[in-house]
Amino acid sequence: MARLDVTETFKGICFPGHLHTQESLRYATEFKFQDTDTLIVTYPKSGTTWMQEIVTLISCKGDPAKSQMQPNWTRAPWIEQYYCSDVLKAAQGPRLLSTHLPYKLLAPALQRSKAKVIYVARNPKDVIVSYYHFHKMANFLKDPGTFTEFLSTFQEGTVYYGSWFDHVKEWTSNARNIDNFLYITYEEMWEDLRSSLEKVSRFLQCPLMEDELSSAQKSCSFSTMKENSMVNYTLVPQEIMDHSKGKFMRKGQIGDWVNTFSTEQSRNFDISYASKMADSVLTFVWET
Ligand code: A3P
Repeated sequence: MARLDVTETFKGICFPGHLHTQESLRYATEFKFQDTDTLIVTYPKSGTTWMQEIVTLISCKGDPAKSQMQPNWTRAPWIEQYYCSDVLKAAQGPRLLSTHLPYKLLAPALQRSKAKVIYVARNPKDVIVSYYHFHKMANFLKDPGTFTEFLSTFQEGTVYYGSWFDHVKEWTSNARNIDNFLYITYEEMWEDLRSSLEKVSRFLQCPLMEDELSSAQKSCSFSTMKENSMVNYTLVPQEIMDHSKGKFMRKGQIGDWVNTFSTEQSRNFDISYASKMADSVLTFVWET
């Protein structure tokens, strides 16, 4: 099937042109946040869809109806994607928004509001492997080539949405000064989903009863989400996402990178990681 990959470059960063236009990217950077908004921020493949499900379920007090009836891209639209303004025209109540934009592109707009920000980070080796497989099945992204080629592009920071290193460092060092900022990792959610749900619900000031928490926990488990067509992207036409080449809900594991990285690639990545992250206090869980 022919690829639909067109690249849109905005302020030096590449975006998939299938979903982004100069106009939509400008709309995002000038976004009019409201104090009641919740914004999920991630580098791609870090647990965006999972957090969209978690926040939806918390705001519905564990009731799965909304997450089973409305696709994640309309209940938590990416502000930089072209359809966002239309989705938001129809939105009612407090808004749940998503973004993959780097901090520097959103900081001016965000600083004008008290919107809540949830930043989800994931260890970069698992991000790379997940991103690599996603490029293979998502026809609106470039053909990733071999894993070795993709790894090198990732480390150069010339993949879509820019450098992972800049993304996590800039959001976590600068945005910590924004009121209402929650930092959480994919690995933390994976290791203790219930405590993570409680943490997010405290942050959103939306406490859940024990049975509501249990219901939310069940609905945002990997096994439930894998079967939920509102979040597993099977509603997207095959020419855009080809599920015969791989699943969006692929493995949902910590440490799956060991099955793809060679020993040498892992060692070289560790060296480059240590140097690029030398000025950061962040730590990650790499394996279970
Ligand atoms: P894998 O490709 O490693 O399986 P994003 O939503 O940011 O694109 O991230 C997608 C990644 O999150 C995929 O990782 C996907 O399987 C994983 N994921 C989604 N929901 C999950 C869940 N409930 N539990 C664990 N992993 C989940």
